[in-house]
Amino acid sequence: MPFPISRPRRLRATPGLLALVRETTLSPRDLILPLFFHAAIDAPRPVASMPGVSQLPVKAAASTAKEAARRGLGGVILFGLPKTKDPRGSSGLDPDGPVPRAVAEMKSAAPQLVVMTDVCVDEYTDHGHCGILHERKDGTTEVDNDATLEVLAEMAVLHARAGADVVAPSDMMDGRVGRIRRALDESSFSSIAILSYAVKYASAFYGPFREAADCAPQFGDRSGYQMDPANAREALREARLDEDEGADMLMVKPALAYLDVIRAVRADTTLPLFAYNVSGEYAMLKAAAAAGMIDYTRAMMEVLVSIRRAGADGILTYHAVEAAEALGG
Ligand code: PBG
Repeated sequence: MPFPISRPRRLRATPGLLALVRETTLSPRDLILPLFFHAAIDAPRPVASMPGVSQLPVKAAASTAKEAARRGLGGVILFGLPKTKDPRGSSGLDPDGPVPRAVAEMKSAAPQLVVMTDVCVDEYTDHGHCGILHERKDGTTEVDNDATLEVLAEMAVLHARAGADVVAPSDMMDGRVGRIRRALDESSFSSIAILSYAVKYASAFYGPFREAADCAPQFGDRSGYQMDPANAREALREARLDEDEGADMLMVKPALAYLDVIRAVRADTTLPLFAYNVSGEYAMLKAAAAAGMIDYTRAMMEVLVSIRRAGADGILTYHAVEAAEALGG
């Protein structure tokens, strides 16, 4: 029916009508807060490129867990900054490292809180790449896929042993979901879930994170293992492979420049789907707000709803606490 029979504005006339016909919801339960635990600091250390985000000492884990639980967040995901780094990322396998210690403290302070860990060696390697390096015959260097799988499997078991509910591999090695599943099952952690960073692009929007997690690659870039931003069909291939290897949940990352990819993966899988609203996306809103260019809270809520509308069940986001507050939590 054309105008004047049809008048879409009828349903926008009052807040009650708007709420009644709203298609997409957002609640604190949908939000997962990333946290950076640093082994060598005693007080929170602000991350300059991410206003409002700090690296945290492990002793802040319990109070942080309680706050996340009180705000009703869907969960937290932990990253670690170790005291030492080497070419193999050995400090990532230390049971006394910042992630295992923070996981244990968070789970005892707030047992109901869903605690996830990022499984990747880039925070622990001195070269900053997401795997073990291998020198090719021509003298150039690449990340050795299969050697890296062994370290990832060991790291996932370590995090599970510390009490993590979910392990989330972010390295983009082929076959890592299957290798981690096997390692968890062989170590009696068959009930620990895997959230796979299945569709992870080589993105400029990770810039601020590399300061937060101190993991910028010391040479080259990550385009030999992370995906080309130009590819969407390949996203479905990556997602299907990880689902076949036993992933319990999938992730698309980043979120905003990839809303079409979120939609496409959503249509192709029945697994829960997450999107990572990454550091650069967060920093852009903070910078625009600081310059007086946008209403920060409105822009943040619009961004988060857009990611849900594209098809994500949940969102990993540095806005999680501010958004929960804005939602009345
Ligand atoms: C790798 C990892 C990265 C992010 C999460 N896990 C960095 C990278 O791949 O370079 C980025 C998250 C963000 O930008 O917020 N362990």
